[in-house]
Amino acid sequence: MIGRALVVFLIGLSFTEARVDFNHSKIYDEFDFKGQSTVTIDGLCRDSCRIYASITQESKAQAANLLIQTAKGFVSVADVAARVDPATKQKLYLEVNNTASLAIVNANSQLSAGPLVLYVVNQAGGFFGYAEIYEAEGFYRPTGLISALTVMSARPFTLKQAHTQGPTAGAPEGVLAQMAGYDALGYASDPCPYLYNLIYGPFPGFTFEVNGPIISLQYDLNQFHFPPGDLSATIGISNKRQLERAGWLGSPGFHGCLNKQPYRSSLYDFSTLFHAEVTNDQPENMSIDVVTNSDDDHPVLLVNQDNQVVYGISDTSDCSPMSFGVNSQNLTINWQPDGTGNTHFMVRWNSTIIPKV
Ligand SMILES: *[C@@H]1O[C@H](CO)[C@@H](O)[C@H](O)[C@H]1NC(C)=O
Ligand SMILES: *[C@@H]1O[C@H](CO)[C@@H](O)[C@H](O)[C@H]1NC(C)=O
Ligand SMILES: *[C@@H]1O[C@H](CO)[C@@H](O)[C@H](O)[C@H]1NC(C)=O
Ligand SMILES: *[C@@H]1O[C@H](CO)[C@@H](O)[C@H](O)[C@H]1NC(C)=O
Ligand SMILES: *[C@@H]1O[C@H](CO)[C@@H](O)[C@H](O)[C@H]1NC(C)=O
Repeated sequence: MIGRALVVFLIGLSFTEARVDFNHSKIYDEFDFKGQSTVTIDGLCRDSCRIYASITQESKAQAANLLIQTAKGFVSVADVAARVDPATKQKLYLEVNNTASLAIVNANSQLSAGPLVLYVVNQAGGFFGYAEIYEAEGFYRPTGLISALTVMSARPFTLKQAHTQGPTAGAPEGVLAQMAGYDALGYASDPCPYLYNLIYGPFPGFTFEVNGPIISLQYDLNQFHFPPGDLSATIGISNKRQLERAGWLGSPGFHGCLNKQPYRSSLYDFSTLFHAEVTNDQPENMSIDVVTNSDDDHPVLLVNQDNQVVYGISDTSDCSPMSFGVNSQNLTINWQPDGTGNTHFMVRWNSTIIPKV
């Protein structure tokens, strides 16, 4: 009974207060600023917080008029987005201390705002001060040990990791990926599902199409002390994917974290058909999980093109995915959104190559 009351309360809260709330951070988007003369960040910067931003070339002028009111004067969101450490290429941040209520003033005419992501994290968040954080555009990180990493972008992007190379090429890795900031990694803080959780050797690398503003990776250094392959990102996502050992695809803005609204952007398309092809030169035995809140008229359609078997999936619980197995070397995924922007899906798989007999 108490559980239900809490859920209703959280849904009500997320409706009136739009940004995506995590236990130690919040993620704001353009819709949090549109039509608002001031947005206030309560609590997160009471002791100490860091603010990271990503914008687009087109939204830069509007971001220059979103003004964070610090004790030392205004700092614009465009200024924060441009901060980068020239040596490491890591994103730098605005640090704000001793500010119980931090105001961000929207000085744009018509109170407009364009595509942006603003990640505000309190010092109590996991990996604070340890995680590496990067902008997706131009991202390249050579092989080297790492425990936690976040990649941000106001535009959807593709994140890749090469398979482990060099003297430790056969080595296993344990890699966990979630669509949230570094503070929400793991299961201790926020109830966010894993999109990828592969413990395997030789580590095969991955390609993620990040249809959202932020993703974080955690490497299990306690069990596997081997440097992972190099990491890189490019702007944009494609609808053709190599069937790798494990992977996932999600609708725009999907993160799956319970009781939180999805990420939003005017760059997301909720009217045209979502279509993806996941193929391989050999058949694989895939174990598939699907989560969606889409109704029976808008099912997620997975078609095994090897035998034309169709799997139509709608309205699963967000906590318990629909799971099934498929042997395929060509799986297509189609989804016609209902146009509201309130529906989502995620397809996640792992697989093994079927040995030739
Ligand atoms: C904020 O507080 C932290 C931790 O006490 C300190 O290291 C940092 O220098 C302070 N930053 C600013 C901008 O005052
Ligand atoms: C984090 O927030 C969720 C609600 O979103 C709550 O269920 C959970 O207990 C919180 N965890 C911690 C460690 O505060
Ligand atoms: C596919 O994997 C499942 C689960 O590991 C196994 O039960 C099944 O026999 C496999 N099928 C083939 C054709 O390898
Ligand atoms: C996968 O199947 C689709 C639909 O039949 C087809 O258009 C596509 O060419 C196939 N891809 C590969 C790599 O065979
Ligand atoms: C593969 O996916 C199935 C279904 O979600 C899961 O039970 C299994 O643990 C996964 N295996 C690996 C190696 O991730």
